[in-house]
Amino acid sequence: MILGIETSCDETAAALVTRSGEVRANVVSSQAELHARYGGVVPEVASRRHLELAAPVLGEALEQAGATLDDVDSVAVTHGPGLIGALLVGLSAAKALAWSRRLPLVPVDHLHGHVASLYLQPDPLEPPFLCLLASGGHTLLLDVETHAGYEVVGTTLDDAAGEAFDKGARLLGLGYPGGVALDRVAADGDPEAYVFPVARVPGFDFSFSGLKTALLYAVRDLSTDELARRRADLAASYQRAIVRALVERARAAAAELGSSRIAVVGGVAANSELRQALADAALAPLALCTDNAAMIASAARYAPPIPYPEYLGLDAYATAA
Ligand SMILES: Nc1ncnc2c1ncn2[C@@H]1O[C@H](COP(=O)(O)OP(=O)(O)OP(=O)(O)O)[C@@H](O)[C@H]1O
Ligand SMILES: [Mg+2]
Repeated sequence: MILGIETSCDETAAALVTRSGEVRANVVSSQAELHARYGGVVPEVASRRHLELAAPVLGEALEQAGATLDDVDSVAVTHGPGLIGALLVGLSAAKALAWSRRLPLVPVDHLHGHVASLYLQPDPLEPPFLCLLASGGHTLLLDVETHAGYEVVGTTLDDAAGEAFDKGARLLGLGYPGGVALDRVAADGDPEAYVFPVARVPGFDFSFSGLKTALLYAVRDLSTDELARRRADLAASYQRAIVRALVERARAAAAELGSSRIAVVGGVAANSELRQALADAALAPLALCTDNAAMIASAARYAPPIPYPEYLGLDAYATAA
Protein backbone atom coordinates (compact mmCIF):
# COMPACT_ATOMS: atom_id res chain seq x y z
CA MET A 1 0.00 0.00 0.00
CA ILE A 2 0.94 3.63 -0.48
CA LEU A 3 0.91 5.81 2.62
CA GLY A 4 -0.24 9.33 1.74
CA ILE A 5 0.41 12.37 3.92
CA GLU A 6 -1.13 15.81 3.40
CA THR A 7 -0.48 18.95 5.50
CA SER A 8 -0.53 21.81 2.98
CA CYS A 9 -3.08 23.98 4.79
CA ASP A 10 -5.20 23.32 7.87
CA GLU A 11 -6.05 19.64 7.43
CA THR A 12 -3.72 17.02 8.87
CA ALA A 13 -4.39 13.92 6.79
CA ALA A 14 -3.06 10.40 6.28
CA ALA A 15 -4.39 7.66 4.02
CA LEU A 16 -3.60 4.16 2.83
CA VAL A 17 -4.33 3.39 -0.79
CA THR A 18 -3.53 0.31 -2.84
CA ARG A 19 -1.80 0.37 -6.24
CA SER A 20 -5.16 -0.22 -7.88
CA GLY A 21 -6.66 2.83 -6.17
CA GLU A 22 -8.63 1.19 -3.40
CA VAL A 23 -8.89 3.43 -0.32
CA ARG A 24 -8.14 1.31 2.77
CA ALA A 25 -8.03 4.27 5.18
CA ASN A 26 -8.61 8.00 4.87
CA VAL A 27 -8.21 10.08 8.04
CA VAL A 28 -8.59 13.86 8.01
CA SER A 29 -8.24 16.01 11.09
CA SER A 30 -9.46 19.51 10.32
CA GLN A 31 -8.14 22.46 12.30
CA ALA A 32 -11.01 24.68 11.13
CA GLU A 33 -12.31 25.26 14.66
CA LEU A 34 -8.87 26.25 15.86
CA HIS A 35 -8.62 28.99 13.23
CA ALA A 36 -12.29 30.09 13.30
CA ARG A 37 -11.73 32.75 15.95
CA TYR A 38 -9.16 34.44 13.71
CA GLY A 39 -11.44 34.35 10.65
CA GLY A 40 -8.87 32.45 8.61
CA VAL A 41 -5.92 30.09 8.78
CA VAL A 42 -2.98 31.38 10.85
CA PRO A 43 0.06 29.71 9.24
CA GLU A 44 2.21 29.35 12.35
CA VAL A 45 -0.70 27.99 14.39
CA ALA A 46 -1.39 25.48 11.59
CA SER A 47 2.23 24.27 11.54
CA ARG A 48 2.28 23.67 15.27
CA ARG A 49 -0.99 21.79 15.16
CA HIS A 50 0.24 19.58 12.30
CA LEU A 51 3.22 18.71 14.49
CA GLU A 52 0.90 17.55 17.27
CA LEU A 53 -1.50 15.69 14.99
CA ALA A 54 0.82 14.00 12.48
CA ALA A 55 1.61 10.91 14.56
CA PRO A 56 -1.93 10.28 15.93
CA VAL A 57 -3.51 10.76 12.49
CA LEU A 58 -1.02 8.34 10.95
CA GLY A 59 -1.69 5.84 13.75
CA GLU A 60 -5.42 6.10 13.17
CA ALA A 61 -5.01 5.54 9.43
CA LEU A 62 -3.02 2.35 10.03
CA GLU A 63 -5.61 1.19 12.53
CA GLN A 64 -8.50 1.93 10.14
CA ALA A 65 -6.76 -0.12 7.43
CA GLY A 66 -5.91 -2.92 9.87
CA ALA A 67 -2.32 -2.51 8.71
CA THR A 68 1.15 -1.82 10.03
CA LEU A 69 4.09 0.03 8.46
CA ASP A 70 5.22 -3.38 7.13
CA ASP A 71 2.34 -3.16 4.65
CA VAL A 72 3.54 0.19 3.26
CA ASP A 73 5.75 0.05 0.16
CA SER A 74 6.08 3.77 -0.53
CA VAL A 75 5.36 7.09 1.14
CA ALA A 76 3.60 9.87 -0.77
CA VAL A 77 3.55 13.43 0.48
CA THR A 78 2.36 16.86 -0.65
CA HIS A 79 5.41 19.09 -1.15
CA GLY A 80 3.53 22.12 -2.53
CA PRO A 81 1.80 24.43 -3.14
CA GLY A 82 0.57 25.49 0.30
CA LEU A 83 1.68 27.10 3.55
CA ILE A 84 5.39 26.49 3.67
CA GLY A 85 5.61 25.76 7.42
CA ALA A 86 2.64 23.42 7.24
CA LEU A 87 4.06 21.56 4.22
CA LEU A 88 7.42 21.11 5.96
CA VAL A 89 5.81 19.23 8.84
CA GLY A 90 4.25 16.63 6.52
CA LEU A 91 7.33 16.44 4.34
CA SER A 92 9.62 15.91 7.34
CA ALA A 93 7.32 13.23 8.75
CA ALA A 94 7.21 11.49 5.36
CA LYS A 95 10.99 11.62 4.95
CA ALA A 96 11.55 10.24 8.44
CA LEU A 97 9.11 7.38 7.88
CA ALA A 98 10.43 6.50 4.44
CA TRP A 99 14.04 6.75 5.55
CA SER A 100 13.56 4.63 8.66
CA ARG A 101 11.94 1.86 6.57
CA ARG A 102 14.22 2.34 3.53
CA LEU A 103 11.22 3.06 1.34
CA PRO A 104 10.98 5.28 -1.74
CA LEU A 105 9.30 8.66 -1.35
CA VAL A 106 6.90 10.15 -3.90
CA PRO A 107 6.57 13.94 -3.76
CA VAL A 108 3.12 14.99 -4.96
CA ASP A 109 1.87 18.35 -6.18
CA HIS A 110 -1.26 19.22 -4.19
CA LEU A 111 -3.19 20.24 -7.32
CA HIS A 112 -2.32 16.99 -9.09
CA GLY A 113 -3.63 15.38 -5.90
CA HIS A 114 -7.01 17.09 -6.28
CA VAL A 115 -7.27 15.82 -9.87
CA ALA A 116 -6.21 12.32 -8.78
CA SER A 117 -9.18 12.19 -6.37
CA LEU A 118 -11.02 11.16 -9.57
CA TYR A 119 -8.79 8.11 -10.15
CA LEU A 120 -9.76 6.22 -6.99
CA GLN A 121 -12.04 3.19 -6.72
CA PRO A 122 -14.91 2.36 -6.89
CA ASP A 123 -15.55 4.56 -9.92
CA PRO A 124 -12.22 5.73 -11.36
CA LEU A 125 -12.32 8.24 -14.22
CA GLU A 126 -10.08 7.74 -17.26
CA PRO A 127 -8.47 10.71 -19.03
CA PRO A 128 -8.95 12.60 -21.29
CA PHE A 129 -11.29 15.14 -19.69
CA LEU A 130 -11.57 18.85 -18.94
CA CYS A 131 -11.16 19.41 -15.20
CA LEU A 132 -12.49 22.33 -13.17
CA LEU A 133 -10.38 22.56 -10.01
CA ALA A 134 -12.08 24.96 -7.61
CA SER A 135 -10.66 25.15 -4.10
CA GLY A 136 -9.72 27.57 -1.35
CA GLY A 137 -6.55 28.70 -3.07
CA HIS A 138 -7.08 27.91 -6.77
CA THR A 139 -9.57 28.07 -9.62
CA LEU A 140 -8.19 26.29 -12.63
CA LEU A 141 -9.41 24.78 -15.86
CA LEU A 142 -7.16 21.86 -16.75
CA ASP A 143 -6.82 19.89 -19.93
CA VAL A 144 -6.14 16.39 -18.60
CA GLU A 145 -4.73 14.00 -21.20
CA THR A 146 -2.96 11.49 -18.92
CA HIS A 147 -3.06 10.34 -15.29
CA ALA A 148 0.38 11.89 -14.74
CA GLY A 149 -0.41 15.54 -15.34
CA TYR A 150 -2.39 18.26 -17.09
CA GLU A 151 -2.13 21.52 -18.95
CA VAL A 152 -3.56 24.70 -17.42
CA VAL A 153 -5.99 26.41 -19.81
CA GLY A 154 -7.56 28.91 -17.40
CA THR A 155 -6.97 30.36 -13.95
CA THR A 156 -8.29 33.09 -11.66
CA LEU A 157 -6.87 36.57 -12.03
CA ASP A 158 -7.61 37.42 -8.39
CA ASP A 159 -9.59 35.45 -5.76
CA ALA A 160 -10.14 31.70 -5.92
CA ALA A 161 -13.74 30.44 -6.01
CA GLY A 162 -13.46 28.97 -2.50
CA GLU A 163 -12.00 32.23 -1.28
CA ALA A 164 -14.98 34.07 -2.82
CA PHE A 165 -17.32 31.71 -0.92
CA ASP A 166 -15.40 32.26 2.31
CA LYS A 167 -15.27 36.06 1.96
CA GLY A 168 -18.96 36.20 1.00
CA ALA A 169 -19.85 34.08 4.03
CA ARG A 170 -17.88 36.43 6.23
CA LEU A 171 -19.72 39.49 4.87
CA LEU A 172 -23.00 37.70 5.59
CA GLY A 173 -21.92 36.93 9.14
CA LEU A 174 -21.74 33.18 8.56
CA GLY A 175 -18.33 32.66 10.17
CA TYR A 176 -15.32 30.71 8.96
CA PRO A 177 -14.89 28.47 7.03
CA GLY A 178 -17.86 29.81 5.18
CA GLY A 179 -18.34 27.82 1.97
CA VAL A 180 -20.46 25.08 3.54
CA ALA A 181 -22.44 27.54 5.69
CA LEU A 182 -23.21 29.75 2.68
CA ASP A 183 -24.28 26.70 0.67
CA ARG A 184 -26.68 25.71 3.46
CA VAL A 185 -28.19 29.20 3.93
CA ALA A 186 -28.54 29.69 0.17
CA ALA A 187 -30.87 26.69 0.02
CA ASP A 188 -33.59 28.84 1.67
CA GLY A 189 -33.05 31.89 -0.52
CA ASP A 190 -34.10 33.21 -3.91
CA PRO A 191 -31.13 33.14 -6.31
CA GLU A 192 -32.82 35.76 -8.50
CA ALA A 193 -33.35 38.25 -5.67
CA TYR A 194 -30.13 40.13 -6.42
CA VAL A 195 -28.18 40.45 -9.62
CA PHE A 196 -24.49 40.03 -8.88
CA PRO A 197 -22.51 40.34 -12.09
CA VAL A 198 -19.32 38.36 -12.55
CA ALA A 199 -16.55 39.97 -14.59
CA ARG A 200 -16.09 38.49 -18.04
CA VAL A 201 -12.39 38.30 -18.66
CA PRO A 202 -10.94 37.13 -21.96
CA GLY A 203 -10.07 33.49 -22.61
CA PHE A 204 -10.86 30.90 -19.96
CA ASP A 205 -9.75 32.90 -16.94
CA PHE A 206 -11.87 33.87 -13.93
CA SER A 207 -12.22 36.97 -11.76
CA PHE A 208 -14.19 37.01 -8.51
CA SER A 209 -12.97 40.14 -6.70
CA GLY A 210 -15.64 42.44 -8.21
CA LEU A 211 -18.37 40.06 -7.09
CA LYS A 212 -17.19 40.24 -3.52
CA THR A 213 -17.26 44.06 -3.69
CA ALA A 214 -20.81 43.96 -5.09
CA LEU A 215 -21.91 41.86 -2.10
CA LEU A 216 -20.12 44.24 0.26
CA TYR A 217 -22.10 47.19 -1.15
CA ALA A 218 -25.38 45.29 -0.94
CA VAL A 219 -24.75 44.30 2.69
CA ARG A 220 -23.45 47.71 3.73
CA ASP A 221 -26.77 49.40 2.96
CA LEU A 222 -28.77 47.01 5.15
CA SER A 223 -29.63 47.34 8.83
CA THR A 224 -28.94 44.36 11.08
CA ASP A 225 -32.60 43.33 10.95
CA GLU A 226 -32.77 43.71 7.18
CA LEU A 227 -29.61 41.70 6.76
CA ALA A 228 -31.09 38.91 8.87
CA ARG A 229 -34.21 38.96 6.69
CA ARG A 230 -32.34 39.07 3.37
CA ARG A 231 -29.41 36.82 4.29
CA ALA A 232 -30.69 33.72 2.50
CA ASP A 233 -31.53 35.71 -0.67
CA LEU A 234 -28.11 37.36 -0.65
CA ALA A 235 -26.39 34.00 -0.15
CA ALA A 236 -28.42 32.33 -2.90
CA SER A 237 -27.81 35.16 -5.40
CA TYR A 238 -24.11 35.33 -4.58
CA GLN A 239 -23.72 31.57 -4.90
CA ARG A 240 -25.62 31.64 -8.20
CA ALA A 241 -23.13 34.19 -9.59
CA ILE A 242 -20.09 32.09 -8.63
CA VAL A 243 -21.59 28.85 -9.90
CA ARG A 244 -22.73 30.44 -13.16
CA ALA A 245 -19.21 31.77 -13.82
CA LEU A 246 -17.65 28.37 -13.11
CA VAL A 247 -20.14 26.43 -15.22
CA GLU A 248 -20.08 28.83 -18.20
CA ARG A 249 -16.30 28.83 -18.36
CA ALA A 250 -15.96 25.07 -17.90
CA ARG A 251 -18.50 24.37 -20.65
CA ALA A 252 -16.90 26.92 -23.00
CA ALA A 253 -13.42 25.45 -22.45
CA ALA A 254 -14.69 21.91 -22.97
CA ALA A 255 -16.36 22.95 -26.24
CA GLU A 256 -13.26 24.77 -27.47
CA LEU A 257 -10.93 21.88 -26.61
CA GLY A 258 -13.33 19.25 -27.87
CA SER A 259 -13.52 17.52 -24.47
CA SER A 260 -16.52 15.27 -24.22
CA ARG A 261 -16.19 14.98 -20.44
CA ILE A 262 -16.05 17.62 -17.68
CA ALA A 263 -14.84 16.75 -14.18
CA VAL A 264 -14.95 18.85 -11.01
CA VAL A 265 -12.57 18.60 -8.03
CA GLY A 266 -11.52 20.68 -4.99
CA GLY A 267 -13.45 21.98 -1.98
CA VAL A 268 -15.95 23.96 -4.05
CA ALA A 269 -16.88 20.73 -5.89
CA ALA A 270 -18.82 19.98 -2.68
CA ASN A 271 -21.17 22.90 -3.41
CA SER A 272 -24.72 21.63 -3.91
CA GLU A 273 -25.70 24.12 -6.63
CA LEU A 274 -22.52 23.45 -8.62
CA ARG A 275 -23.13 19.70 -8.37
CA GLN A 276 -26.66 20.20 -9.69
CA ALA A 277 -25.57 22.55 -12.45
CA LEU A 278 -22.94 20.07 -13.63
CA ALA A 279 -24.91 16.91 -12.94
CA ASP A 280 -23.63 15.43 -16.21
CA ALA A 281 -20.00 15.93 -15.11
CA ALA A 282 -17.73 13.55 -13.19
CA LEU A 283 -17.87 14.98 -9.66
CA ALA A 284 -15.27 14.07 -7.06
CA PRO A 285 -16.93 12.11 -4.21
CA LEU A 286 -17.94 14.50 -1.41
CA ALA A 287 -15.43 13.10 1.08
CA LEU A 288 -12.60 13.65 -1.39
CA CYS A 289 -13.43 17.26 -2.43
CA THR A 290 -11.71 19.09 0.42
CA ASP A 291 -8.13 18.30 1.37
CA ASN A 292 -7.35 14.67 2.13
CA ALA A 293 -4.43 12.26 1.80
CA ALA A 294 -6.19 9.58 -0.27
CA MET A 295 -5.94 11.88 -3.29
CA ILE A 296 -2.23 12.39 -2.59
CA ALA A 297 -1.59 8.65 -2.46
CA SER A 298 -3.69 8.31 -5.62
CA ALA A 299 -1.56 10.87 -7.49
CA ALA A 300 1.59 9.07 -6.31
CA ARG A 301 0.58 6.07 -8.45
CA TYR A 302 1.33 8.23 -11.50
CA ALA A 303 4.32 10.27 -10.23
CA PRO A 304 7.99 9.22 -10.22
CA PRO A 305 9.25 7.89 -6.85
CA ILE A 306 12.58 9.04 -5.45
CA PRO A 307 14.62 6.05 -4.23
CA TYR A 308 15.94 5.75 -0.66
CA PRO A 309 17.71 7.91 0.58
CA GLU A 310 17.95 10.51 -2.20
CA TYR A 311 14.91 12.45 -0.98
CA LEU A 312 16.39 13.67 2.28
CA GLY A 313 17.28 17.07 0.78
CA LEU A 314 13.88 17.53 -0.89
CA ASP A 315 12.25 20.92 -0.26
CA ALA A 316 8.67 22.22 -0.17
CA TYR A 317 7.30 25.06 -2.33
CA ALA A 318 4.61 27.61 -1.46
CA THR A 319 3.14 28.63 -4.82
CA ALA A 320 2.06 26.67 -7.89
CA ALA A 321 4.94 26.02 -10.26
N1 LIG B 1 -20.39 23.22 0.00
C1 LIG B 1 -19.48 24.15 -0.33
N2 LIG B 1 -19.83 25.20 -1.11
C2 LIG B 1 -18.92 26.12 -1.46
N3 LIG B 1 -17.64 26.10 -1.08
C3 LIG B 1 -17.24 25.09 -0.31
C4 LIG B 1 -18.13 24.06 0.11
N4 LIG B 1 -17.43 23.18 0.86
C5 LIG B 1 -16.17 23.64 0.92
N5 LIG B 1 -16.04 24.80 0.24
C6 LIG B 1 -14.85 25.63 0.07
O1 LIG B 1 -13.75 24.84 -0.34
C7 LIG B 1 -12.55 25.44 0.13
C8 LIG B 1 -11.64 24.39 0.73
O2 LIG B 1 -11.29 23.50 -0.29
P1 LIG B 1 -9.87 22.79 -0.31
O3 LIG B 1 -9.68 22.09 0.99
O4 LIG B 1 -9.79 21.99 -1.53
O5 LIG B 1 -8.99 24.08 -0.47
P2 LIG B 1 -7.53 24.40 0.04
O6 LIG B 1 -6.78 23.15 0.19
O7 LIG B 1 -7.66 25.33 1.18
O8 LIG B 1 -6.93 25.19 -1.21
P3 LIG B 1 -5.94 24.60 -2.32
O9 LIG B 1 -6.36 23.21 -2.62
O10 LIG B 1 -6.15 25.52 -3.46
O11 LIG B 1 -4.58 24.68 -1.73
C9 LIG B 1 -12.94 26.53 1.11
O12 LIG B 1 -12.78 27.79 0.50
C10 LIG B 1 -14.41 26.23 1.38
O13 LIG B 1 -15.18 27.36 1.70
MG1 LIG C 1 -6.73 21.70 -1.39
